[in-house]
Amino acid sequence: MLEQLSQLEKESLATLAAVENGDALAEWNKRYLGKKGALTQMLRSVGQLPKEERPAFGQAANEVKMALEAAYETKAEELRLAEMAQELEQGALDVTLPGRPIGPGHLHITTQTLRQIYAIFAQMGFQVYESPDVETDELNFELLNMPPHHPARDMWDTFWVNDQVLLRTHTSPGQIRVMREQYPDPIRVILPGKCYRYEQITARAEHQFYQVEGLAVGHGISMTDLIGTLTEFAHRFYGAEGRIRIRSSYFPFTEPSIEADIDCIICHGEGCRVCKYSGWLEICGAGMVHPVVLENGGYDPEEWSGFAFGLGVERPAMLKYDIDDIRLFYENDLRFLRQF
Ligand code: PHE
Repeated sequence: MLEQLSQLEKESLATLAAVENGDALAEWNKRYLGKKGALTQMLRSVGQLPKEERPAFGQAANEVKMALEAAYETKAEELRLAEMAQELEQGALDVTLPGRPIGPGHLHITTQTLRQIYAIFAQMGFQVYESPDVETDELNFELLNMPPHHPARDMWDTFWVNDQVLLRTHTSPGQIRVMREQYPDPIRVILPGKCYRYEQITARAEHQFYQVEGLAVGHGISMTDLIGTLTEFAHRFYGAEGRIRIRSSYFPFTEPSIEADIDCIICHGEGCRVCKYSGWLEICGAGMVHPVVLENGGYDPEEWSGFAFGLGVERPAMLKYDIDDIRLFYENDLRFLRQF
């Protein structure tokens, strides 16, 4: 019997070595280790042996069983690895295929326009100053001479965080921040940034857009300084030789208030779609800083004066590049963005 057992071990290990796939392995397992397998049968027949031979045989048979089971596991693992290697090889990447190049991006048209504006004002001695998008009612309205219930507030509906906190409707609250920080020095800054308004989105109006606020405070600053600055800006930005037109306007935080237009850069006064056949393009609201606002900023209006303006950013870009819909700016359509 022991002889037979060792014969079986040899034979089964030899067959196992020749196994090449999962099916054959399962077949092998059934043949030797399965319920009706050769080894199992042999173990069952232990009862036929004389009593004194049984323990030795039982022990030997168990050792063979353990050896076969271990050999089975090793083989199964080997097959798994071989299968994985084969899969990797079949699905292998062809690294000789030329890649699809990812072109370098470029600056968004708004960023480009902002940088042009910074450069022009930097040449005129204006520093760039930033102030927060989330503002208080106090800074966005009250300190700009718009107490609660002031009718001018209707021009600027916005998104409220709570009763006192809102998303700024213009960059003008930055005027107060700069004044309070720089007093008693004279001021010459621009304040670029995003503004928010709760309004219907149309081809000409978005609920988020950029503005660049300008503020100059000093001794003896007058309306001619403001007009000269805006004229210079228009010439440098649009390359226009054309004239600037000043209209009177109203803002609670400037007195007097104006709006500035330039000759239409598309038709030069002939009248076209872009200027709505008026021959003029609006570029900003502006004016002399209101005495109450100067005072709120810490500057004595008897001694100091100043001008402020609020330039749009997308609008001037639309005029410069003949873009007829403001919604295109933030839709992230690369066909549009790549053109600039
Ligand atoms: N803040 C004004 C607006 O958003 C523009 C403005 C700025 C007017 C500064 C006068 C002075 O409409």
